[in-house]
Amino acid sequence: MTENSKKRVLSGIQPSGNLTIGNYLGALKQWVAEQETYECYFCVVDLHAITVPQDPVKLRAKTREVAALYIAAGLDPDKVTIFVQSHVSAHAELAWILTCLAPMGWLNRMTQFKDKAAKQQQDTISSGLLNYPTLMAADILLYQAHAVPVGDDQRQHLEYTRDLAQRFNHMYGDTFILPEVMIPKAGARIMGLDNPLSKMSKSEATDSHAIYLLDTPSKVKKVVMRAVTDSLGQISFSDIPDRAGINNLLTIYQSLTQLSQEQTEARFAGKGYGDLKKSVVEVVNATLEPLQRRYSEIIDEEKYLDGILARGADKAQQMANRTLREVKEKIGLLPTGLSS
Ligand code: TRP
Repeated sequence: MTENSKKRVLSGIQPSGNLTIGNYLGALKQWVAEQETYECYFCVVDLHAITVPQDPVKLRAKTREVAALYIAAGLDPDKVTIFVQSHVSAHAELAWILTCLAPMGWLNRMTQFKDKAAKQQQDTISSGLLNYPTLMAADILLYQAHAVPVGDDQRQHLEYTRDLAQRFNHMYGDTFILPEVMIPKAGARIMGLDNPLSKMSKSEATDSHAIYLLDTPSKVKKVVMRAVTDSLGQISFSDIPDRAGINNLLTIYQSLTQLSQEQTEARFAGKGYGDLKKSVVEVVNATLEPLQRRYSEIIDEEKYLDGILARGADKAQQMANRTLREVKEKIGLLPTGLSS
């Protein structure tokens, strides 16, 4: 397949908090698998991170950290475009244009906004948090992405993106490709180890909640051995809420080993919860060890990483600016006399 006939993929992760095994299984792992077949754009979405207050020094460090983790997880900068969202100003520009098209009612209905807003003091919630999905739509539509690989929790944002794209296409003529959501078959939704009824989050304060990609082997062991289970003593996949802890551990094991559900259950036939936890620790650490080794090489090579991000921004700009130019023309913004 030639470069141009490849379908495009775009996705991103916020540089807030520490990336977890949930980010790895729900996003990074599938991105790595897709880099051969698609033309891929992967960004670090720093403009999304600032929808809630961020410490400037930490934000900058986290942005590099997330980019380094993309590469450490197996994304090849020679095959895919890795960039920082704020390096491509078209994202903010298209987001504004789409904001003017987005009915408030659509935004008010977003469950992620409602959840996040409920956790904050009402009068301090930024309007950026409400408009978050519109910026995400801009990220995707600028690259005319055919598919967007994300975790299960982003489904509604993808529907919103399609609705907005359709609205624009209807008003101004065919412009945007309608993107499809791409959810991994296993591991799309990894739950908190301390509370298997809520999604594993990278901004959770408690120590026993998540496996972070940069955790030491002993830290991984500690949180997994402490993970909430039940008293039924039965190792099988299940969607009964009481069994969510075991289901989650099995899901982590299954996604990392690429076994089927049946094979996974068979492996633990006649075994106890302690055995399951030990096996999870083993496969997690076996995955994290090479990733962390690669990460520490990259993060210390400042020039290497910044060079990749600079090249990535250049490439991303070409694609993004082409779309933005077309959009501006269609809605009637006056071009500068200088533009070609
Ligand atoms: N909202 C996404 C998340 O929290 C992050 C994101 C921002 C994203 N822009 C995107 C994901 C564009 C895919 C495509 O996971």
